[in-house]
Amino acid sequence: MNSFSDNKPVNVGLLGLGVVGGGVAEALLEQPHAIAGQVGRPVHLKKALVRDPSRNRDLFLPPGVITTNPEDILADPEISVVVEVIGGEDPAARYLEGALAGGKHVVTANKEVMAKRGPELLSLARENGLNLLYEASVGGGIPIIGCLSRELAANRFRSVRSIINGTTNYILTRMANDHTDFSLALAEAQERGYAEADPTNDVEGYDAVYKLSILAGLAFQRRVAPQDIYREGIGRLQLQDFRYAHELGYAIKSLAIATREDGADNGADGAIQARVYPALIPQDTMLGKVDGVYNAVEVEGSLCGQVLIHGRGAGRGPTTSAVVGDLIEIARNLQTGPCPLPAGTIEESGSIRSIDDLVCKYFLRLNIADRPGVLAQIARILGEQDISIASVLQKDADPAAQTAEIVITTHPARESSVQKSLKLAAELEVVQEINSLLRIED
Ligand code: HSE
Repeated sequence: MNSFSDNKPVNVGLLGLGVVGGGVAEALLEQPHAIAGQVGRPVHLKKALVRDPSRNRDLFLPPGVITTNPEDILADPEISVVVEVIGGEDPAARYLEGALAGGKHVVTANKEVMAKRGPELLSLARENGLNLLYEASVGGGIPIIGCLSRELAANRFRSVRSIINGTTNYILTRMANDHTDFSLALAEAQERGYAEADPTNDVEGYDAVYKLSILAGLAFQRRVAPQDIYREGIGRLQLQDFRYAHELGYAIKSLAIATREDGADNGADGAIQARVYPALIPQDTMLGKVDGVYNAVEVEGSLCGQVLIHGRGAGRGPTTSAVVGDLIEIARNLQTGPCPLPAGTIEESGSIRSIDDLVCKYFLRLNIADRPGVLAQIARILGEQDISIASVLQKDADPAAQTAEIVITTHPARESSVQKSLKLAAELEVVQEINSLLRIED
């Protein structure tokens, strides 16, 4: 007989029983003693909301657990914790509001809802003396949200630099290491179940924008809304970009970066800049070596310095790990007394910089006429915009057509000046095509 049998269980309502929901249900049903041991009393799956109860789930659920009516969870006074793993904004956000308004603690894996509505939901939770945990919303099994909200909370953060989309990182790794072109690598990611049938959210960077919005909010305690984050997808990259980047000592990764300018440490408003785009990063850095479906988040704190967390960012196991970890924390706190309120006091004030103000090094790839004086014309345009050239590679010359491809890297320059230069260069008769403008994140 276990020592928890007399304790009243913590009743859980699960919203969604898909890949992650199935993992959470399985953990609760198949490891009840291990979880009860961590919490101090049983954690009981009372109800699970599904759309289609007839679907074969490869999971033995006790009779009466499955429901198609959200009110069976939201209005049940015996359920004290609601776990949401439906994904998407609606109806998930509505259910979360309903759960918090009804006095239930919440665990969610929903990055879209936390990015778009997180501050309001966190306020609602605090007003009602409830906790709202969302570790699984960013980086699957990587405990970055717990770190930013608790273990590293004493720091003022200057930057968050991350690879937080496994699908794009898989595609870019295949393009870099095996010279697989973009559409083939994407098809392969879909076959392996990394990319969805409609890959827009991953490939165009929306998924990473939601996750960066959450991380930046926690790191800087300021709201960085998804629409404040500059976004570029990976669909325009070509194999040549990887070849030249490699020759220059760089990897190409889809990076999600948020930085805060100096001044914030003195209490002044340090403006924030946030962006998701494919960029060059030195091959010999830790982020430059993150390959395949792995994720990594690197933060730079005033006390801890640089900290990097690396691991599996998605999938049933890692996401279940984060969701059940949050659930255990809430259930444990319910056992010991009042539940702590959620971290992440997020202010609306403060300035957000436009991408035009970004200052970094650039990698530019152009097709040009291979004739005397062509490079000088391009160099003049860059010089007039105060852009200093760091290196020039001339490649893939076609003597018959008298064309060549050039790759120019620059010293730190302003984004608006680089964009203006490329517009002017595109008007030159000797420039056939501007293939790439990529930032170099040293
Ligand atoms: N589609 C995401 C990724 C996982 O590829 O990383 C869920 O956030």
